[in-house]
Amino acid sequence: MASLACTVDGIKFSNPFVIGSGPPGTNAKVIAKAFEEGWGGVIAKTISLDASKVTNVAPRYARMRASESREVLGWQNIELISDRPFDTWMDEFKQLKDSYPDGVLIASVMEEYNKDAWIELIERTQESGVDAFELNFSCPHGLPERKMGAAMGQNSEILEEVCGWVNSVATIPVWAKMTPNVTHIVDPARAALRAGCEGVAAINTILSVMGVDLETLRPQPTVEGYSVPGGYSCKAVRPIALRMVMELATMMYGGGSGNPIGEMSSGEFPDRSISAIGGVETGEDAAQFILLGGSTVQVCTGVMIHGYKLASELCRGLEAFMEKHGFDSIEDFRGHSLQYFSTHAELVRRQHEVKAREKAERAGIVTKDTAWDGDSFVEQSNRLVSND
Ligand SMILES: Cc1cc2nc3c(=O)[nH]c(=O)nc-3n(C[C@H](O)[C@H](O)[C@H](O)COP(=O)(O)O)c2cc1C
Repeated sequence: MASLACTVDGIKFSNPFVIGSGPPGTNAKVIAKAFEEGWGGVIAKTISLDASKVTNVAPRYARMRASESREVLGWQNIELISDRPFDTWMDEFKQLKDSYPDGVLIASVMEEYNKDAWIELIERTQESGVDAFELNFSCPHGLPERKMGAAMGQNSEILEEVCGWVNSVATIPVWAKMTPNVTHIVDPARAALRAGCEGVAAINTILSVMGVDLETLRPQPTVEGYSVPGGYSCKAVRPIALRMVMELATMMYGGGSGNPIGEMSSGEFPDRSISAIGGVETGEDAAQFILLGGSTVQVCTGVMIHGYKLASELCRGLEAFMEKHGFDSIEDFRGHSLQYFSTHAELVRRQHEVKAREKAERAGIVTKDTAWDGDSFVEQSNRLVSND
């Protein structure tokens, strides 16, 4: 019987499905709803010490739909972190932990490049009883103007220093959330893990421009006639997220015979975790992220499209996948598919080998001892002679 329960960095999850930081974890009411609906954990909307610096605009989303089915494929947002006061959040975290002691509650936090601010943020937040931290080094819009979010996550040196500050005071597990808006995601991830983070989360949104309205000639989403590039999420980003999770897992846990990122194939951080994110809407989507090394799987936009009840569908789909393959636990298949990534040269070599074998077999040439047979034994022997 397949079990979805898993323990990651010492935290017990009833299932690996975690609400990703964003609107679905934006206050105590919606977080409570997520726990009621059976989500394994919730990462609250990102908070910082001074919410008065945060001012959101409306509209702040734009969607890409399939032309016929109208299904939502891509979602852009220009939303900032939480605009709710830090003290309100602390009260809500405490209430939530009192009401849902078994619900895994993770605080997503972000600050400017200032040691005292980060230390205050971590110390005060962990007093509220949250189970872990996710450090938001990845928001691609608005906050980089204050040198926060992706601006920090794109600079491995700064990121390592900030993770060091956090880990000097954090008494609970810390995940660093990576931005995909870099050339090599393994570099900042390595810096975070070197600085003592228990895990990495990937990916945040991909910097994007959703489109230009051909009537008004204004970019979308349009606010008083103007726009800014935003963050892209939903189904459309899943292949990119899978690739980045694969690269992180290969660096951390080791990979196949020909390593796709051209690095050592034994892992550098075998005991750390990956929380995989990007375009998950079904249990089958999640299974793929786990096969590529994810210990937990986060969902943000999927909840905005399908609602909190999605949790039961995700669990059902993942369980069905596990039953089909005879996997009893998440650990039974986590990272299983990493071994099948290789280099392009290796693919060419394998293909040549198969073609050469097929050609020999067509010509009746014995290439394996199992191919010898009693009736054509003499002919088979003759075909292997080189000097007649
Ligand atoms: C409207 C919106 C707001 C978001 N806000 C945050 C945030 O405050 N902090 C954060 O770390 N990520 C935030 N994200 C990013 C998501 O947590 C997630 O990394 C990303 O959307 C990809 O996953 P998905 O395709 O499941 O949404 C936000 C995403 C959306 C769509």
